[in-house]
Amino acid sequence: TMKVKVLSRNPDDYLRETKRDIHKVFRNYNPVLHPFEAPREYMRALNATKLDRVFAKPFLASLDGHRDGVCCLCKHRKRLSYLFSGSCDGEIRQWNLTNRQCIRTLQGHTGFVRGLACSPDGKRFISVGDDKTVKHWNSDPLSEERDIPINTVVAKSLYTGVDHHWTDSIYATCGQSVDIWNMERSEPVRVYKWGMDSIQSVKFNPVETNLCISTVSDRSIRLYDIRAAVPLNKVTLKLRSNVAVWNPMEAYNFTAANEDHNLYTFDMRKLDFALNVHTDHTDAVLDVDYSPTGRELVSGSYDRTIRIFPVSGTGHSREVYHTKRMQRVFTVKWSADNRYILSGSDETNIRMWKARASEKLGRMTPREKAAADYNEKLKLKYAYHPQVKRIARHRHVPKTIYQAMKEKKLIKDSQRKKEQNLRANSKPGTVPRVPEKLKHIVLPPQE
Ligand SMILES: *[C@@H]1O[C@H](CO)[C@@H](O)[C@H](O)[C@H]1NC(C)=O
Ligand SMILES: *[C@@H]1O[C@H](CO)[C@@H](O)[C@H](O)[C@H]1NC(C)=O
Ligand SMILES: *[C@@H]1O[C@H](CO)[C@@H](O)[C@H](O)[C@H]1NC(C)=O
Repeated sequence: TMKVKVLSRNPDDYLRETKRDIHKVFRNYNPVLHPFEAPREYMRALNATKLDRVFAKPFLASLDGHRDGVCCLCKHRKRLSYLFSGSCDGEIRQWNLTNRQCIRTLQGHTGFVRGLACSPDGKRFISVGDDKTVKHWNSDPLSEERDIPINTVVAKSLYTGVDHHWTDSIYATCGQSVDIWNMERSEPVRVYKWGMDSIQSVKFNPVETNLCISTVSDRSIRLYDIRAAVPLNKVTLKLRSNVAVWNPMEAYNFTAANEDHNLYTFDMRKLDFALNVHTDHTDAVLDVDYSPTGRELVSGSYDRTIRIFPVSGTGHSREVYHTKRMQRVFTVKWSADNRYILSGSDETNIRMWKARASEKLGRMTPREKAAADYNEKLKLKYAYHPQVKRIARHRHVPKTIYQAMKEKKLIKDSQRKKEQNLRANSKPGTVPRVPEKLKHIVLPPQE
């Protein structure tokens, strides 16, 4: 037999798909032929990081219309484009986020609107206000009853928050007590009360749907099951928490926004230490929300900034958003498609931000997408090189916040130094080292 060798070429390897496509280039990947591969790659990483900062324009739009500070926001549970907002003068507005327009204005309450919650089917939403009423509304802006509430429940005391169950037609309000309501009844079906302390917030667990979490003015965060009469567990911090939210993916972890400028992430099964302490804010943190992936959280603070934190890691923020006009941020929400952040602040505006500051919105060609992915990978690979790290970490903050951060650092350093000196001059073992994740928790007295 004779062996015949023929040349065979696949046209896909050398022909362009369309006339406008670039010519295919053949390369020899032998590393000997490319001695400067690593430096070139590093340069590309540096360029990508720089361009990332150049194109970081997170602010998208401002929804204005309210005549007083925006104190609560609520996402529609079924439709991405709907947003409800409540203001300090009792007005409730519904927005179409696609064209950023107000589609409905309601005079909901006299005094503050304290909380808004949407039902799981998205057909109704509930508002509570300073006038001691709970109102149920139809969330369809074109319905017959778009101007009047479907139902009004008169309460005995002031309510400060409301949340809806994730599957059933049950909702919870908080104030002097946590009241669990059935949609059809005008009396609460269950009441939880902890002494004379008022309750700041209530949130239903998205997975273990009968589980609730509340922050109480005695500085504790309490967990309870709405089927049982007695609460399950609690953790007490050194200062009061304003709100606690569940991680939507790992729904046994939760994060609390605290008055001491920090956020604390806990595992509900091990409440004696915090999984992570998120520092960086320079004033009380007023609201927090998780991204739908459960990997990041956004917080709004009295210091007039919004920060984005990775849930695990060093506890420092990866991003800080601020504008010249934005005042104290009362409420923040992360949109359900993981791309936008919404914030409501004291100077009547609702702002829409990108969750990733330099992301290109809109459609991308396959080649653009490939380039973006490559740059992303490069940034990750070279993240720890000093130059790249410095550029990636740099953020401009307003002067007041810069000064406050400096001052906070000074205080922390001097406290650390004092502790070190104390330890050095005492009997070994008498001044223990307390890690940050234990430092802020008040443990119950030992019997
Ligand atoms: C990096 O950017 C500079 C200036 O913008 C450009 O001249 C250079 O070719 C870029 N380097 C790489 C490797 O992309
Ligand atoms: C929201 O705006 C978009 C874009 O203009 C429009 O297509 C949609 O119908 C609007 N929705 C409502 C309920 O007005
Ligand atoms: C949630 O808690 C578990 C167990 O304590 C921990 O391993 C995990 O990292 C936590 N998840 C987040 C996102 O913090």
